[in-house]
Amino acid sequence: MPHAAPSGRLALFPGSFDPLTNGHVDIILRCAHLFERVIVAVLVNADKQPLFTSDERVAMVRDVFREYPNVDVESFDGLLVEYARRRRASVIVRGLRAVSDFEYEFQMALMNRHLEPTLETVFMMPAEQYTYLSSRLIKEVFQLGGSVTGLVPPAVERALREKHAVGAK
Ligand code: PNS
Repeated sequence: MPHAAPSGRLALFPGSFDPLTNGHVDIILRCAHLFERVIVAVLVNADKQPLFTSDERVAMVRDVFREYPNVDVESFDGLLVEYARRRRASVIVRGLRAVSDFEYEFQMALMNRHLEPTLETVFMMPAEQYTYLSSRLIKEVFQLGGSVTGLVPPAVERALREKHAVGAK
């Protein structure tokens, strides 16, 4: 039997995105090819003191994907499964970089399944050159004067520079 056509489901790609990295971009592009629609869901309270506000994080992701009609960007607060229900999403996509990601992701996927059994978590791997990237390392390297060119979209690099300039005043 031939494979069924892609189901055209809506996928959520949730995260803190503080800030968006090229690893995230890689996964979002893969989602945009696989699913009819992707919502990049930016968590409002990423941690107690995110570098970028949720509005800034949403604006950066929107800017990068402005030419992709099937990629939407929203912020969300509260339980991810509740947000997925409101959006009628059937798939959560998470990126897996290394074995070290596995335990945390496994716990979250199973907890989300416990809370909402119809919601599937799908793991995707970014291109090899991004397997060592994380938002936390980007912030650290940038704040210590290292180059992040090629690791984040140019709009994010600009935003990091602006944030740094404001912080230095
Ligand atoms: O980019 P991150 O910080 O790894 O993303 C984590 C995120 C946003 C996916 C996770 O913290 C989350 O879903 N938060 C919403 C609150 C929630 O539903 N918590 C229970 C998860 S099992």
